[in-house]
Amino acid sequence: MPTQRSPSQFIARRVRDLAPSPTLAVSDKARTMRAEGLDVIDLGGGDPDFITPQHVRDAATAAMNAGDTHYVASNGTPALRKAIAEKLQRDNDVAVDPVTEVIVTPGGKASLFQAMLALVEPGVEVLIPEPAWVSYVPMVEVAGGRPVGVPLDPDDGFRITAETLEAHVSADTRVLLVNSPNNPTGRVLDEGEMDAIAHVAQDHDLLVFSDEMYEKILYDGHQHRAIASLPGMAERTLTFNGLSKAYAMTGWRLGYVAGPAPYIKQIAKVHSHSVTCATSFAQAGGVAALTGPQGFIGDMVAAWDRRRRAVAEGVNAIRGLRCPLAEGAFYAFVDARELGMDSVALADRLLREAHVALVPGVAFGGAGEGHLRLSFATGDDLLAESVRRIGDVLGRR
Ligand SMILES: Cc1ncc(COP(=O)(O)O)c(C=O)c1O
Repeated sequence: MPTQRSPSQFIARRVRDLAPSPTLAVSDKARTMRAEGLDVIDLGGGDPDFITPQHVRDAATAAMNAGDTHYVASNGTPALRKAIAEKLQRDNDVAVDPVTEVIVTPGGKASLFQAMLALVEPGVEVLIPEPAWVSYVPMVEVAGGRPVGVPLDPDDGFRITAETLEAHVSADTRVLLVNSPNNPTGRVLDEGEMDAIAHVAQDHDLLVFSDEMYEKILYDGHQHRAIASLPGMAERTLTFNGLSKAYAMTGWRLGYVAGPAPYIKQIAKVHSHSVTCATSFAQAGGVAALTGPQGFIGDMVAAWDRRRRAVAEGVNAIRGLRCPLAEGAFYAFVDARELGMDSVALADRLLREAHVALVPGVAFGGAGEGHLRLSFATGDDLLAESVRRIGDVLGRR
């Protein structure tokens, strides 16, 4: 009889040390407390509180009823890839070939993950300006690469500068990962930041992974510009986007990556061997979303705009908290540094005493410490009640 191995000896090192998603952990904790009968408000998630538009649901239902229930082309149906290429040209001034330069994936997360597996390997460094979405670092780690956090300064509005990026570039850097509008900070890159990214990428011969998932969710006249549309950037940029946030389609799992054919060809191998294709009838809904009426987005953004202002006003009246107005996406990144508590302890206190679930800023990297992320993609009344409860616990100015 060979000696018995313990379960941990069967677990791959690259996964064993991986932290589970902190945002999902917050939601799980909130759900457990609710199951115990407590009235917990969960502002930890990132799911639009709207149902997918009717015409999109109708298109998917019709496709399913017509028998569109089989495997489709691995990289996506020709109709959806065409709609994506047309959208990129129309909205973003980015030209891609729908046949060789687009892959439709089950959600935006999958497109990023597959690109990491295809283009990042041991010895490769990926620059990640932080605070950053919680999944980037684990994705790089699973691919065997080295995530290099680039801490941005909260007192400079988390602005990206060429100098900050340059300070973290090494001979092993291959990829610069940027996200605008940003989760969690709500920042939208301005022209100066875009130029800095383009210059650093060109000077150091880097690929840019540009996560533009929240591009349609903008306030106060802020504009989104795709990195791939900057001079000289199309050949070194992969654009990641999806339908989850703009069309309230998180559960459909539809995302995409678009960019130069040589990279897409390699990502397509990972895609085909891991998921085969995104869901057939969901893709019919995706075509309807991208090619149909777009008014739904404006209505949704108008509601979030109203909530964004109400939350900022309420939070700014609470002792120790400061809430800048988000420029895009649907998160308030609340500055709690004045309280001098670490963000995990503060989030824990607010969950226990106020029964409001928020994500501790440190979940988005060290640069997020002292902050809390609050999702305002939820009803006005729940938001008002949350702010009231937090004020009751921390006190008002
Ligand atoms: C910055 C960012 N990128 C990508 C995604 C992935 O979106 P999806 O639900 O389409 O996988 C999210 C989801 O929260 C996100 O916040």
